[in-house]
Amino acid sequence: MKLEGDKSLSHRLLMIASLIQGDSILRNISTSKDVYSTIECLQKCNIKIDYKDEKTTIFKSDFIAPEAILDCGNSGSTLRMLMGLLHGQSISAKFDGDSSLQKRPMNRIMIPLKKMGATFELSNGKFPIIMHSTNNQSIKYSEKTKSAQVKTSLIFAGLGSNESSFISYNKATRDHTEKIMESLGFDIKVKNKITIRKNNVNIGMDINIPGDLSSAAFVIAATVLTPNSNVIIKNVLYNKTRMTFIYTLIKMGAKISIKNISKEECGIQSCDIYIKYSKSLTGVKIKGDDVIGMIDEIPIFSIIGCFASGATNIQNIKELKVKESNRINAIYQNLYDMGADIFQDDDSMLIKGGKRLHNTTINHFNDHRIAMSFEILRLVIGEDMSYEYSNIIDISFPGFYRTMDRLLS
Ligand code: S3P
Repeated sequence: MKLEGDKSLSHRLLMIASLIQGDSILRNISTSKDVYSTIECLQKCNIKIDYKDEKTTIFKSDFIAPEAILDCGNSGSTLRMLMGLLHGQSISAKFDGDSSLQKRPMNRIMIPLKKMGATFELSNGKFPIIMHSTNNQSIKYSEKTKSAQVKTSLIFAGLGSNESSFISYNKATRDHTEKIMESLGFDIKVKNKITIRKNNVNIGMDINIPGDLSSAAFVIAATVLTPNSNVIIKNVLYNKTRMTFIYTLIKMGAKISIKNISKEECGIQSCDIYIKYSKSLTGVKIKGDDVIGMIDEIPIFSIIGCFASGATNIQNIKELKVKESNRINAIYQNLYDMGADIFQDDDSMLIKGGKRLHNTTINHFNDHRIAMSFEILRLVIGEDMSYEYSNIIDISFPGFYRTMDRLLS
């Protein structure tokens, strides 16, 4: 089987293509609502994009300050990365988002962007956020939130100045932006710090985006936990900052292997993932950089923990409280209601596997990854999926129900 292009790559490739003084083609782009938010926002800034899932073309265009509000929907990546991108191009804009996005922390991005010359207006601290961007300055910044979105945003903003910006960052954060930009000839150096400054890139790219690793996690979980299943996912993203979920499952005893790792093209590699039902899984402890490496996979990982022998201990996960929902709370509440042996505190969860779980009404908290995780759990305990959450799941994985039905047939 194959999956639509990786969402993190799709956002970044669209934004980077918009900076290039040439046309770019992106094949197999994600058709998720989040990526569509990025496309619509860029179009409102005068970037010409012909959007088709099989072949999306981004034409050489100049940024023009948008009159309309940039609605980022549910997408933290769109909002945070776009702020840096537009500031780097001296484009002022007004940003909005849905009620979940409006609750997410924005100071982590506004504080460094202010140091780079942007000013912000919010009425009573509330959305929409108006960004005024006339004055561009370089920055020396140590990124403490360990966020790839913030790192990317600051790299983009650094393109606004002839003077180099220096960004210290955590090496476990996903590195797609810097790898793609390095390979395309942007003036970026990646060492212990990232150094970036203004330059022009004139030659566009033609890229086939490998399948989404975070969507693959749901297929992997369903396969590992369902007797007699055996699945190969072809042409999925391969990137060392995104493989921790898979390596952790292998450590727990899951029958997963990674084959056919491709050569790097435009800073991007792909692989095939072979997965089999795995009867004996053993609980593990994860913390620190490993959590960063599987930050979006913690909800589905906690489901797997329920079927592993012994304890699965997930530490340093405070950041999950400010994702699309408070994911510590959402995982805990649903698993507890289903009869799991689970303990949570402010920064960790402990799951003792092997308890018999029963179906209840799931509270998905309007969070796509919570909805998908618990649909998978229903399948694994022998219930039907509810098929009720397409609207939420389409945020990241539009083919989810179709894919799962095919796996089961
Ligand atoms: C993302 C980074 C992560 C992740 C998000 C996508 C990215 O967020 O949770 O879904 O594409 O850079 P943070 O940067 O806030 O950790």
